[in-house]
Amino acid sequence: MLATCYAWAQDNSPEDGTPMFASKHETEAERGNMKNKTTAATLLAAKHAHQPQVWLTAYDAGAARIAEEAGVDVILVGDSVGMVNLGYDSTIPVTVEDMIVHTSAVVRGRSKAWVVCDLPFGAYQQSPTQAFNTSAHILRQTGCDAVKLEGGKHMVDTVRFLSQRGIAVVGHVGLTPQSVKQFGNYKQRGTTQEEYQSIYDDALALADAGAVAVVLECIPASLAEKITNHVAIPTVGIGAGQACDAQVLVWHDVLGLSKTPPPFIKPYTNLRNQAIAAISAWAHDVRNKT
Ligand code: KIV
Repeated sequence: MLATCYAWAQDNSPEDGTPMFASKHETEAERGNMKNKTTAATLLAAKHAHQPQVWLTAYDAGAARIAEEAGVDVILVGDSVGMVNLGYDSTIPVTVEDMIVHTSAVVRGRSKAWVVCDLPFGAYQQSPTQAFNTSAHILRQTGCDAVKLEGGKHMVDTVRFLSQRGIAVVGHVGLTPQSVKQFGNYKQRGTTQEEYQSIYDDALALADAGAVAVVLECIPASLAEKITNHVAIPTVGIGAGQACDAQVLVWHDVLGLSKTPPPFIKPYTNLRNQAIAAISAWAHDVRNKT
């Protein structure tokens, strides 16, 4: 994927992904725009330069390679894997071991994308120490770059604890799928004035605690815009309008592999129908010995 001389420069670049031959006059964001490794620093620089970043979920090495070839900056190994790949009806049954298998595969398939692994339900909420132990185990086992956890103000101590110990943490507020049993649905959050304010406070509190980015899921576009304008870290929207610093989608949704995609999905393609047609055509040939 990379030209040889460029690969050399990348291999010999400083940790922040700055190429060895970068001109003194380039800004951090311009360097980030070149196809170097994505880091927390390049994501922040992109926010300041108003360069939207592209995040996508992926769960295996082949998908990671395709995502990178398509220019994706960040690959999120979401616990959505439980619903789209493992057949569960929520993300709650997903285990640390599941996340390690899928994240390790993605890391093997990526060359420059930043890889974020979701901390699964029950593996971090108990205490900052539990979250640290789970995160350290995942980082060591997979080689990923960051962990993501759900929750706002009540997770601030945990985010601070991890950040102060060198872990890059991505927050996640608004619709938090691991709390589905509490809410009973996957509907938009922040629709009452009280919830609107609470989600705003959540995002700012996470940033203050040291989160390096925050996912805003299924909230009003006006709220996502307000957070994006007031928070010092990149916001990553999903069903949260266009104002966010980055957008994230689930692999199956962007490719039309989901039978019932969320309402905010633009139909870029429908690989589900194409796959059914291709397999049916092949099955026809098999049965007719053609
Ligand atoms: O698990 C996941 O895929 C996610 C995204 C929807 C943001 O958390």
